[in-house]
Amino acid sequence: MQTIKKMIAEKLAEGIVSLGAPGALTADELISMLEYPPDEGMGDLALPCFKLSRTLRRAPVQIAAALCDSLTGIAAVEKAEAVNGYLNITLSGQYLLEHVLADIADKKDRYGATDEGKGKTVVLDYSSPNVAKPFHIGHLGTTVIGHSLKKLHEFAGYKCVGINYLGDWGTQFGKLIVAYKKWGNKEMIEQGGIDKLVELYVKINNAISGNADQGIPADPALGDEARAEFHKLELGDAENLALWRWFIDISLAEYEKTYKQLGIEFDSYKGESFYTDKMPAEVQKLRDKGLLQIDDGASIVDLEKYNMPPCLILKRDGSTLYPTRDIAAAVYRKNEYKFDKAIYVTSAGQSLHFAQWFKVVELMGYDWYNELVHVPYGTVSINGAKLATRTGNVVLLKDLFKAAIEEVSAIMEQKNPDLANKEEVAEAVGVGAIVFYYLSNSRIKDINFVMEDALNFDGNTGPYAQYTYARTCAVLRKAGECSCDQLTYTAPEEAALLKVLSRFPEKVANAIADYEPSVITRYILDVAASFNRFYHNCPIVNADDAAVRATRIEITRAVNQVLSNAFPLICMRKMEKI
Ligand code: ARG
Repeated sequence: MQTIKKMIAEKLAEGIVSLGAPGALTADELISMLEYPPDEGMGDLALPCFKLSRTLRRAPVQIAAALCDSLTGIAAVEKAEAVNGYLNITLSGQYLLEHVLADIADKKDRYGATDEGKGKTVVLDYSSPNVAKPFHIGHLGTTVIGHSLKKLHEFAGYKCVGINYLGDWGTQFGKLIVAYKKWGNKEMIEQGGIDKLVELYVKINNAISGNADQGIPADPALGDEARAEFHKLELGDAENLALWRWFIDISLAEYEKTYKQLGIEFDSYKGESFYTDKMPAEVQKLRDKGLLQIDDGASIVDLEKYNMPPCLILKRDGSTLYPTRDIAAAVYRKNEYKFDKAIYVTSAGQSLHFAQWFKVVELMGYDWYNELVHVPYGTVSINGAKLATRTGNVVLLKDLFKAAIEEVSAIMEQKNPDLANKEEVAEAVGVGAIVFYYLSNSRIKDINFVMEDALNFDGNTGPYAQYTYARTCAVLRKAGECSCDQLTYTAPEEAALLKVLSRFPEKVANAIADYEPSVITRYILDVAASFNRFYHNCPIVNADDAAVRATRIEITRAVNQVLSNAFPLICMRKMEKI
């Protein structure tokens, strides 16, 4: 649509010259003023002329009428009308057909892509679970939003580095070591894997803080033991170091399974522990710059001037904190990757943390502070106790995926029992359903997860989108070899669909500008709805007229291409048969 808009804007710019105001508005300015009218009766594009009346010193109605004339005789425009100060433009179906299909056929898997980011590097810090703590549904957001943003940036030509900043250091390891030594053994962990680790972790937490419901009294001495074990780990105690490494390896192996289901790979797994020896230099820098203040024994950076609570750098006992580590990690990444942008995806609960340490980086004099971007997202809750796990009140991501895959398998067993690679399809559709459901919402919104809704094959869901893609594949298989010499426009459903297809590049740009993968998810639903309307109302392979048949097959091919380009941008796999 961008090229069509450009061409129309150039004609409008000429029209403005004839209004006696040469150069008052450039074609580029006019492009950004062209709107998509809210309903179809108002055409495909509209120019609100009241926005021009001050510059052109004329009434909007007069401007609309004059500009209307400037669009006569253009192949792309079927109708231009001046209505109440708006210039409403209806595009020609035949033109759309030729123009949009040629564009998609020409660019293929690069349709929607740009080289806007050429030569630029973006690092993305996402997923980053805390080892030993459960990898639960709360991590779904950072994992899939983070990966989508990576894919979107790659599509726009950026070099991207995906970093899993594992929470692999901290007192939780002290707790886990105590729990392991008390209640665990090698065999039990080797067999039970991460589930056992999480179980031990939950048990030790209950034991330390007590759990009234389960009649467990609090035992603070265990907390001291845990701190002592962590301290030993910090000092390099061989036994604890070996346990620590082992716990991480077991957890990582488990995360990898989940990442594989989502098609996610990271470029770096440098976790929090990696930055231990990189923090002192930054703390020294803060001290040298006179930014550190001692408050009740702790070292802080005062941020009152910026309406924020102080950023904590060192605890009273001199140990470092979450912000300290993030500052050191950012400096390391800037040196290592020379990034142009560093994106951090976490729950909105961490927004203050990021605002604080971004400010500290600025105060430290790092001139790249404004290349740091925090992308927050809302909370997820789950409807229905069915999914609650042994661990009590958290739902593990892998259990959620497992439940979805099982339900999809059952549905498919009914709908399509003869399908070949059933397991693969069930995994792609099940996992895809969850991702799609999650990414249909604006990221900042809180979500209540309802499995039945996510898996509804007839709703605006992942399965519906994947089913639509498979439908385009089926049409193309049935069509076989087919060449199209003359594209022939015949039905309004075709124009409607082509208009949707033409907007993909803009949607990609919007999704990147707003760090909002849901733009793509919703766009996929638009394509699916429009294609299905076309599919139901217009015979494709069975069209009587050869030219109409060939044209509609080409339209289907374009839909297939666009969905094919869009799916990976939101971590969805595509299946040719469902
Ligand atoms: N591990 C943290 C958590 O689970 C998220 C880390 C986010 N990234 C960062 N650089 N702080 O809450």
